[in-house]
Amino acid sequence: MPRVSVFRKIVFNAAHRLYRKDWSDEKNKQVFDLCANPSYHGHNYRLDVKVTGEINPETGYVIDMNELKKILQEEVMDRFDHRNLNLDCAEFTDLNPTGENISVVIYNLLRSRLNTSYDLQIRLWETERNYFEYPA
Ligand code: NI
Repeated sequence: MPRVSVFRKIVFNAAHRLYRKDWSDEKNKQVFDLCANPSYHGHNYRLDVKVTGEINPETGYVIDMNELKKILQEEVMDRFDHRNLNLDCAEFTDLNPTGENISVVIYNLLRSRLNTSYDLQIRLWETERNYFEYPA
């Protein structure tokens, strides 16, 4: 059967701050600039999820969109939406919540919920102009 890519987009809001606990305030400010602001700042993150697989001849689906929607709700929305990534999310207790790191964390959460027969790629938009893709 033909292989087709299926996409779903979600949007979540979260606050973060880029800094390393083991660096001085000066060094954090120097490297991360405004993103190191101690009062945190927010983003409207947009996540594009791409699932690639063979069409199931019985259903005509690559994946049931309702199933994908449920996985995204549980693994991304319930976990990160309206949260402070640094303070509220164990995934980032010791991991700087950059777009790069958030992408890898989300990929791994979704990967663990999808059959290995699927290929998965995500694109995380942090702003209108900046986005991240994983796997690269
Ligand atoms: Ni930011």
